[in-house]
Amino acid sequence: TTKIVLDVDTGIDDTLAILTACRAPEVELLACTTTWGNIDVSQAARNTAYVLDLAGRADVPVARGAEGPYLGGEVVDFATHVHGDDGQGGCADPRYVPALAPESAVELLLRLGREHAGELEIVAVGPLTNLAHALDADPGLPSRVRGVTIMGGTSFVPGNVTPAAEANIWHDPEAAQRVFEASWPVTMVGLDVTMRSRVTDDHRARLAAGGRASRYAADILDFYLGFYEGVTGERASANHDALALGVACGLVETLVAPVVGVEIDTTHGPDRGRTVADLRGMWRGWPAVEGARHRVVLEVRPGFEERMVDLIAG
Ligand code: BDR
Ligand code: CA
Repeated sequence: TTKIVLDVDTGIDDTLAILTACRAPEVELLACTTTWGNIDVSQAARNTAYVLDLAGRADVPVARGAEGPYLGGEVVDFATHVHGDDGQGGCADPRYVPALAPESAVELLLRLGREHAGELEIVAVGPLTNLAHALDADPGLPSRVRGVTIMGGTSFVPGNVTPAAEANIWHDPEAAQRVFEASWPVTMVGLDVTMRSRVTDDHRARLAAGGRASRYAADILDFYLGFYEGVTGERASANHDALALGVACGLVETLVAPVVGVEIDTTHGPDRGRTVADLRGMWRGWPAVEGARHRVVLEVRPGFEERMVDLIAG
């Protein structure tokens, strides 16, 4: 099994990742840390605790993390048009009071890094703010972590917030750059692959026939499919965050995943938030990318979403 901390901004696809992590025998979910992104961090923490509760995993600690970008400043916007005002397609229970961990997201990440030195995989599927702060708090963290797998970025397909940028990177490019330049191995699961793992009404019907958590997944997916229908004309959504979890924990085989240098565009022009991957090795020897260990996933074995639905629906 892979021991993971899942760092989430719990919108709809994050919820599928959490439920998959709860159900897959390959995954040992040690904790969830929460961040701003799709919605504000308080709502993200509530949604995360609620989903874990539904899945019968209230034992998994949920820690609150960053409220906004790494370098401060205003949150530009959330993604409520994609995930609903509550991040759960209108299905969150407003009366639910989450029991959160006494530690902050950074404290929890650092503690688990020490307790599971060499074994811990951080799976980050929101903006990378918590990870950037954790690196500042303890520059030794990378030496204790097995690796970091992120859902974020894109190489060959267009961004989903701007032509250049994917949402998780675009929300906090400076945090992303901090994470990519640290000395831990980073695996990038970006839009190149997550846009091709598609969830449909057939999957939704199977989820609707499952247990309580599975039925909840079916309920929230209605909003997500509606959003995608508005954008593409088809009721089929991307499966971003669960796919990143799947790659991190070996639930899906990667077919093309070169190890190269990745830099984040942190300028304020049209390329802000772009992930620039050196896929031809042209930067080799450049001091800025010396020692880069970034695995850019470009192709995975098709069919992960079937496994995911089987796991969640039970
Ligand atoms: C990413 O952005 C968020 O809206 C999703 O949860 C996912 O992590 C996709 O670009
Ligand atoms: Ca997310």
